[in-house]
Amino acid sequence: MSNSILNASGIVKTFLSGDRRIEVLRGVNLDVAAGESISIRGESGSGKSTLLHLLAGLDAPDAGTLTWEGSPDTGAKRRAAFLGIVFQSFYLIPELDALQNVLMARRIVGHIGSAERDRAKELLKRVGLAERMDHLPTQLSGGERQRVAVARALMNAPRLILADEPTGNLDEHTGSAVIELLLGLCRETGTTLVLVTHNADHAAKCGRQLVLREGRFA
Ligand SMILES: Nc1ncnc2c1ncn2[C@@H]1O[C@H](COP(=O)(O)OP(=O)(O)OP(=O)(O)O)[C@@H](O)[C@H]1O
Ligand SMILES: [Mg+2]
Repeated sequence: MSNSILNASGIVKTFLSGDRRIEVLRGVNLDVAAGESISIRGESGSGKSTLLHLLAGLDAPDAGTLTWEGSPDTGAKRRAAFLGIVFQSFYLIPELDALQNVLMARRIVGHIGSAERDRAKELLKRVGLAERMDHLPTQLSGGERQRVAVARALMNAPRLILADEPTGNLDEHTGSAVIELLLGLCRETGTTLVLVTHNADHAAKCGRQLVLREGRFA
């Protein structure tokens, strides 16, 4: 597919635990087109996080291929510009305030000047944290922290956002608000979204819904 953002083909991943082999992914195929939103559901332990790590190039499959926009380069430098990741447990840097946390994404790929600072501030405004930019993560609620993480994921104007249960630590109302925000921002900016979630309502908001079962998409 010419407008493929992400292509995974025949992905296999097995973990060895003592003398046990855990065959987590048994030939996952996935092609994601530019601008799509896709949800991935599956039972706990079905391999969703494992798959997302592989799609992010953070771990290597035992077999299969992964390309981003048709290219097999999934190295750290390209990753920082190509994709944003949102995790269940936020992973903000505790010593840095909200603005610095968002800017951190940019620091990895290049220079930070006034334009970058303005962009980070604009993103924090968009996620409703205009008044909280100088707050440390400990001074923010769970939902606010996740909104900082969403702003950070968007900082480098990525082509793709991978989100692993981004509402897992939030109450239902706050979680729904974060999902609406994430979907809205992705739609607005044409960013492709792959969302892992246990929540059927959140999954249904995505353009395509997939279920991981017995190591493959059912
Ligand atoms: N580094 C590892 N070493 C050994 N086993 C692992 C490792 N990482 C994951 N696993 C195993 O792989 C399986 C899939 O784990 P994974 O975290 O991908 O599941 P998940 O679908 O994300 O589950 P959840 O919904 O609970 O987050 C589990 O059985 C897990 O124990
Ligand atoms: Mg998981």
